Amino acid sequence: MYILLMGPPGAGKGTQAALLVEKFRIPHISTGDIFRAAVREGTPLGLEAKRYMDSGSLVPDSVTIGIVKDRLTKLDCKNGFILDGFPRTLDQAAALDSTLADMGIEITRVFNISVPDAELVRRLTGRRICKGCGATYHVLFNPPKAADRCDKCGGEIFQRVDDQEETVARRLAVYRARTQPVIGYYQEKGLYTEIDGRQAIDEVSIVIDGVLRGAMS
Ligand code: AP5
Ligand code: MG
Ligand code: ZN
Repeated sequence: MYILLMGPPGAGKGTQAALLVEKFRIPHISTGDIFRAAVREGTPLGLEAKRYMDSGSLVPDSVTIGIVKDRLTKLDCKNGFILDGFPRTLDQAAALDSTLADMGIEITRVFNISVPDAELVRRLTGRRICKGCGATYHVLFNPPKAADRCDKCGGEIFQRVDDQEETVARRLAVYRARTQPVIGYYQEKGLYTEIDGRQAIDEVSIVIDGVLRGAMS
């Protein structure tokens, strides 16, 4: 199962990826998570990525493509993966195609979770994340049971730097300009499924499962 999860910032890619991991036991590869881990560790990659992320811009393809290539050629990706937030440009999509061709892998399905902008702003500004395990919450739509503590590990809950309202607006503009064209790329290949992301988390998950069952049979 080789799944691509696309969609604007806050559409629910990470949330759905976590549910798919539980079901299929395949790795979840989020370029955003990889960059944030590098920022936390203070590596040269982290220092470079932070400049772009904090302002809501894309990290340059010259950096991002190499990182994903390295990650995909690890052994645990042989039997499947969920790519979340990559590809985000046409050049990234072309690079992914050539990497997968080298590996003899074909993409099972490309999902785009579609959500109107006003709802995306609500989701992002209300999002909270666990410092310990990275679990995602929302102050209204998916709150932790105990305020400010993670249900899964008891870790502290925080807000992402790029989830401030001004940065969210910039991320949405960058999505439209750079990432939306990638949709056409996968439509032409017949791999594309649009998901109505306005539905509740478990409803979105049911729709994705149904499409994947169809793709496997
Ligand atoms: P990244 O971390 O990928 O951020 P993003 O694409 O902006 O997406 P998010 O993680 O913000 O949203 P999501 O779709 O995962 O939503 P979530 O499930 O959390 O990238 C960050 C930065 O890294 C980029 O800006 C860029 O600088 C850089 N970067 C990353 N990849 C790159 C690439 N390929 N090339 C270049 N640069 C790259 O859900 C959001 C909230 O909504 C949560 O609170 C959740 O609980 C809630 N929620 C989820 N689903 C629902 C639902 N159905 N109903 C109600 N609430 C919901
Ligand atoms: Mg995410
Ligand atoms: Zn946690």
